[in-house]
Amino acid sequence: MPLATSREVLLKARAEGYAVGAFNLNNMEMAQAIVQAATELNSPVIVQASQGAIKYAGLEMITAMARVLADGAPVPVVLHLDHGTDYKQNVKCLRAGFTSLMFDGHDLPLEQNIAMTANIVDIAHSVGLPVEAEIGSVLTIENLLTDAEMAEIRALEIPKQFEILRKKIGRTVEEHIAKPEEAKRFVDETGVDFLAAAVGSVHGLWLDIWPLRIDRLKEIFEATQIPIVSHGSSGVLIDQSHAIEKGVELLPGEGSLKDAIKVGYTKINVATALSMEFNRAMLEAAGKRPGEKDPRKLLGPARDAVVAKTKEYIRLFESDGKGGSPAASGSTGSLGGGTVARGEE
Ligand code: 13P
Repeated sequence: MPLATSREVLLKARAEGYAVGAFNLNNMEMAQAIVQAATELNSPVIVQASQGAIKYAGLEMITAMARVLADGAPVPVVLHLDHGTDYKQNVKCLRAGFTSLMFDGHDLPLEQNIAMTANIVDIAHSVGLPVEAEIGSVLTIENLLTDAEMAEIRALEIPKQFEILRKKIGRTVEEHIAKPEEAKRFVDETGVDFLAAAVGSVHGLWLDIWPLRIDRLKEIFEATQIPIVSHGSSGVLIDQSHAIEKGVELLPGEGSLKDAIKVGYTKINVATALSMEFNRAMLEAAGKRPGEKDPRKLLGPARDAVVAKTKEYIRLFESDGKGGSPAASGSTGSLGGGTVARGEE
């Protein structure tokens, strides 16, 4: 079916109490894997491209890949711009055929963020496209820890990792979360469709250990009544029942991704976890086939691994079965991963 807009899939998800995964694609194999996973589980899905991914693959290539995949899929597929940092990038994506935009002006003064977002909402809404915008600040782990510090932390037992991360970055994160009254003003004055409101997550974390400020998220959703977007989801504690084993001590008001979906999180962005899974499987395949000449023998297993990982997330967000395609459930989709006959190499 043709690319869907994020408004269609997210308003339905909010009304029915589940969330939709927004998975970052970096190359053709990841894009195929994400849509394949959604097809197999009969789930709506958002594929999203960062400005870095657009620079790497080219705007036309990204748009064409998403369009071809959507056209062949029996479930709704949305193409979203992730973290567009200026007006021109948004206009270019709108013109190219994206079906969902984002302006990220979180590091601007609030007045300026409101003015810029309102401009983009104005042009996007004039052609029926929805817009996401960000307030508060979802921090990035690379800006908080050096590579050497991260490597040192990751070598430790999980509970110890959490203890150190809490001490080193906990306060910084807390200082950057969004405020409900600002969120309401932002939504009222911009007309934005979805709000990426920082409630404690950090881009680029690993291990599903980081708790969210559920109390703050609830206040923001109650004040704005629009779907809230989760950024930095790869490192977030998935379920409170995992807290003990991971040594996570929840403070008052904190909770997990599952708690967050109940109180407003509706679009859940996942990038790091899929990229790491892709690389892990590709390197594993390379290790098993030293001297391999055919890149497909390394990229194919990486693509399969991303299908499996994406399916885990779709089930967690409970969007499986919500794609509106009875025929899609149990389908194996159409990845070009089958046996290659002699002469077809
Ligand atoms: P992670 O890389 O932490 O999953 O965050 C992704 C994201 O928020 C993209 O906008």
